[in-house]
Parts: sequence; structure tokens; C-alpha cells
Amino acid sequence: MSFEISELYRKDLPPAEAEWGGIPAFSFVGGNNDEENVPVAGLMEAVTRVLQREGRKLAVYNLGGSPLGHEDLRKFICQKLGVRAATNVDLDEVLITSGSLQALDLVNDLLLLPGDNVIVEEATYGGMISRLKRLGVVVHGVHLDQNGVRPDHLFELLQSCASQGRPAKYLYTIPTVQNPTGTCMPIDRRIEILAAMEGQQTAIFEDDCYADLLWGCDRPPTLWELDGPDRRVIYCGSFSKSIAPALRVGYVVAKSPVLQQILSLKTDAGSGALEQMVVAEYANSHFDKHAERLTSVLHGKAEVMAEAIRQNFGDSVHFDMPQGGIFMWLTFADDVNTADFSTEASKSGIEFNAGAGWSVDPLWGANKMRLCFGNPSVEAIREGVHRLAEIMNLTSTGNSS
Ligand SMILES: Cc1ncc(COP(=O)(O)O)c(C=O)c1O
Repeated sequence: MSFEISELYRKDLPPAEAEWGGIPAFSFVGGNNDEENVPVAGLMEAVTRVLQREGRKLAVYNLGGSPLGHEDLRKFICQKLGVRAATNVDLDEVLITSGSLQALDLVNDLLLLPGDNVIVEEATYGGMISRLKRLGVVVHGVHLDQNGVRPDHLFELLQSCASQGRPAKYLYTIPTVQNPTGTCMPIDRRIEILAAMEGQQTAIFEDDCYADLLWGCDRPPTLWELDGPDRRVIYCGSFSKSIAPALRVGYVVAKSPVLQQILSLKTDAGSGALEQMVVAEYANSHFDKHAERLTSVLHGKAEVMAEAIRQNFGDSVHFDMPQGGIFMWLTFADDVNTADFSTEASKSGIEFNAGAGWSVDPLWGANKMRLCFGNPSVEAIREGVHRLAEIMNLTSTGNSS
């Protein structure tokens, strides 16, 4: 009998990934960044400087320092958050992770068991939805409006979970440049959300990975900053969107005992140290200027995509301009299922996120679509949106309202 290793696989694995076929010509998926705005020269300088100064520390796990991560990078994050915060972030309240995806995994690992209730925004990050599905938790989608999470519905869900004797473990929210809707929760709404949580045994997991790319409004304080002394907020951020996703540098901010417990689950002997050193070295002198420039480029690309959508789809689609970030969230007529067009689109080199994968209720999300504009060129955005409209056969009625 021949040996078949797949017979030995765990029985609860997700389907294997399709083989990598390269990035298509019109890729409107993934949190990728604008190539021209990867600060290559600045990163090269930072690599050289930091390796000359501290390269020998690479001989030792965690550079011989705290398992929370490279101290200079944690200091930078403390300063970055502390500039606007009423309360300071201490060095022992920051844990560096391998991208914020590892932060999501660690916080989920800390808090969730199968059958637990969690509340997430009704449209949210697909990477979180798939994680929660695999964990076997019960996911409740809270309604959103132009200002983000609706406090009345949040309260209803909190009460309903609590009355089952299983208070939701957390509310996962992306308040600043919500993924996928692109809204930014104003301060008043943040205060209302925190008020709705009072008396509930439910944490808030705040994902702030797009907050450096905001153009539509002033940056409001984070929920983490507005939180009370009991500290129900666990916060995560990332350098993926502001510098480069392939670096894989993210972070969690929480009270020190929470991070100490998380460290017991982070069994990777430390996130990559070279990228932490380089990001710290680069960011210390260049971050704000770089983020400002990148944000303005992304804003320009958003305008191009909006114009292409209006020209090519006319009034067959509804969307609001995002307040920042790298994506648009389109809503088609109720009888449209955007997933039906995926195969045909991919034959033309177009990739998009069908709304179902970005929605707690896939039926609710079926007539929606997420289009990312961070990576494709302005020409690819124009041409790709034009081709997509042709494929969907919803070509403009000429109305560009
Ligand atoms: C809301 C949100 N959180 C987390 C991530 C993961 O980012 P990374 O692991 O690159 O930091 C993404 C990526 O697109 C995202 O959109």
C-alpha cells in the first residue's frame, strides 16, 4: 500500500489554497500598498544605519531584549499614540507582532472558545470573519451607519448575549477607516459606544490599522484613549498600510498583565527583529511626513476610482467616498450577486472581493463588493473598472451622479 500523507491530515482543515498564479493585471483585492510610495531609499538608509550600530544583537533571540519586541520600536509606538492621548502608553503596554494578523490570532487565542459569542461590525474584515468561523464562535453582526457601529443595536446584542448567560467576549471594531465601508467613527459615537458597554462583561477589540491614512476628517481619539480605568479596550495597529505589508510588523496595546498572558501564547520566539529595527529607525525620523504623502496619493487614487465607477456603472451602484484608506464598498441592486461575476472577471485579469466574504451575513453582503485601489496604478484602476462594468453588464446609463 502506498503512503498517502493527506490521510494523516487533521480532519478539520480548511480547503487547501489554490496554486499561486501571480497578481492579475487588475487586482482590486488585498491590503496592498502603492509601489511608488514604499520608502525604499529611507528604508535602505535605515537598514545600513541600524545594522552598523546594532547588527550584532541579532546573535540573540529578541535581540537580547524583552519578548515584547524591539525597544526602540515600542518607544516609537508609545510616542505615536501618546502624542494625542490623554493617558500615556507605557513601554510594557506594547507588544510587537508579525503583522496585525498575528495580533488578531493572539487576542482570539486569549479570549475565545468554541460557542462563545462575539460581536463584529455587520460588514468587516474578511480575514477576521474566516478566523472566527474556524474558531467555532457565534458571530453577531452589529448594524452600521455612516458613523460606524449603531449603539442601539449594539446594546440590543449585548443584552441578548448576556441574557443567554454568555456575554459577548468582545466587540471587534475598526472605527477609523472601517474595513470595508471606509467610514470614520466620530468622537461622539465613540463615547456612545463606550457608554453602551458599561456594566457589560464584554471587551472591545479595536483594530486601527488604517488610522494613519485618513483624509476625510480629523483623526478622532481612539477608543483605547477614551476607555475608562477598567480598561476594556485591547488595541492593535500595523505598519502594513502605512509603510509596507510585506514587512509584517504590527502591534497590540493593552495593560501589561494582558500582554504578559498573551506572551504565553506567542510561541514564535519573537517576531522578525530586522524588520522591527528597520521600521523603528525609519519611522523615528520619517513616519509623519511619509504617511502624509502616502495619504494624499491614496486620496487621489480614490478620486480616480470614484470617477471611473460613476462613469462606468452610473446609477446601478451606490457608494460613499471613503474617509481614508485603500478600498471602496459598492452596493448594487438587491438582485445582484457580485460573486456570480468573479470567474468571468478573473478571465479578464480582474480580481475583486465579493461582498459576502466581507459580511457576517453572506446573504446581506451578496449585492456588495469591495474594490481596493492602493496597489493598482491610476491607469489600471480606470481600465479595470471599465472592464468590470462591461462584464457585469451594468454599463452606465450616462448618469454620473
Ligand atoms: C482591518 C484589518 N486588520 C488587520 C489586517 C492585517 O494586516 P497586517 O497583518 O498586514 O498588519 C488587515 C489587512 O488588510 C485589515 O484590513
